[in-house]
Amino acid sequence: MSATEANHLRTGREHLGTVRLRVEMKMPTEATAIPVVRVQGVCHDFGSTRVLHDINLELFPGEIVLMTGPSGSGKTTLLTLIGALRSLQSGSIFVKNRELQGLSERERVEVRRGLGFIFQGHNLFESLTALQNVRLALELHSDDRQANTERAREILEAVGLGEHLHKKPEALSGGQRQRVAVARALAPRPSLVLADEPTAALDAQTGRQVIDLLKQLGKEQGTATVLVTHDNRILQAADRIINMVDGRLVSDIAVGESLEVCEFLSKVPAFSGYTPGALAEIAEHMQPQQFAAGDTIFRQGDEAQRFFIVWDGAVRIHNEDADQDLAVLEAGAFFGEVALLSGQPRNATAIVERSAVLLTLGKEDFEAGLSREKNFRDQLREIYYNRH
Ligand SMILES: Nc1ncnc2c1ncn2[C@@H]1O[C@H](COP(=O)(O)OP(=O)(O)O)[C@@H](O)[C@H]1O
Ligand SMILES: [Mg+2]
Repeated sequence: MSATEANHLRTGREHLGTVRLRVEMKMPTEATAIPVVRVQGVCHDFGSTRVLHDINLELFPGEIVLMTGPSGSGKTTLLTLIGALRSLQSGSIFVKNRELQGLSERERVEVRRGLGFIFQGHNLFESLTALQNVRLALELHSDDRQANTERAREILEAVGLGEHLHKKPEALSGGQRQRVAVARALAPRPSLVLADEPTAALDAQTGRQVIDLLKQLGKEQGTATVLVTHDNRILQAADRIINMVDGRLVSDIAVGESLEVCEFLSKVPAFSGYTPGALAEIAEHMQPQQFAAGDTIFRQGDEAQRFFIVWDGAVRIHNEDADQDLAVLEAGAFFGEVALLSGQPRNATAIVERSAVLLTLGKEDFEAGLSREKNFRDQLREIYYNRH
């Protein structure tokens, strides 16, 4: 690598430096890196249909792990196995150092008491108030009525229900009921929270509050959280994203320093149909590079090696034959796809108009991305044909 390229890379990374620091603080340290959950070689059948294939997974204290994947891919089944809600057929799951394989129903009930569940159809007791519903969960652990009442009140206030403590579920909206369910799950300070689409029924602000609460709990007491979600807005809360397809774990990505890239991509229209898992995968392969005004990124006639997205600054696309500017591209725009799609040399020159940071994706990763995501492929094809 030439000195200038090295310099470009270094400056590009500095641009993302604050993000990396923020993320490192959340990662488990050596001292706490004993997994809360260890899943090994788990398969599961419903009748003669195998719905989980050889799942291996570890969850660490304080981690928030997003689980994504198409409907029917086995997310809920895996969550219910980890949560000891159904018995394990094959493989091994340790939850807080307890092996779930071979446990009796009664023993599984004991395991469940130590966990927080936020599942769809929140199953609140209709005859009890919000406060009583939450307190009931605490009474499984302690009979100190005053302390339980205090804690129930505190956590209901934290989810924004301080004004509704004495209402029964029927008097609450869907979102409010969901928040009671969240409060009930978190009140006993479980060391593992399993949440199946917890923000699906919530408005953006309440969804945000729930996620903040989960993060806070993780930080304060090392709770590990698994969140099944399709919600791109939650991306920034995640430490890891795991992706299930057809009963298999197809990727397990530490979001780490690609977090900000991920968030950025989720706002680029070409990536709008991506799941958080697919975005994280692309983001992991993208490299930020800094360019100065006047730099040539590639020349007309060059062989195509990379695809580019403008993160910051501006890039001018110039046709040499007509000596004409075709476009000035700013943050969120992408370029360089035409030659990659056609296999032809570059049909224009790209020059930095204003000092720019570009996210770049190598040819092979670009092609892998194309074959995976239909929406991205279709949009690029459409642009490609319109430009010809
Ligand atoms: N109780 C059940 N009996 C039979 N098949 C089931 C049952 N629960 C789920 N399945 C099947 O198992 C597969 C995985 O389902 P599920 O874990 O609910 O997926 P997801 O939560 O990712 O949508 C699906 O094909 C579903 O139809
Ligand atoms: Mg499900």
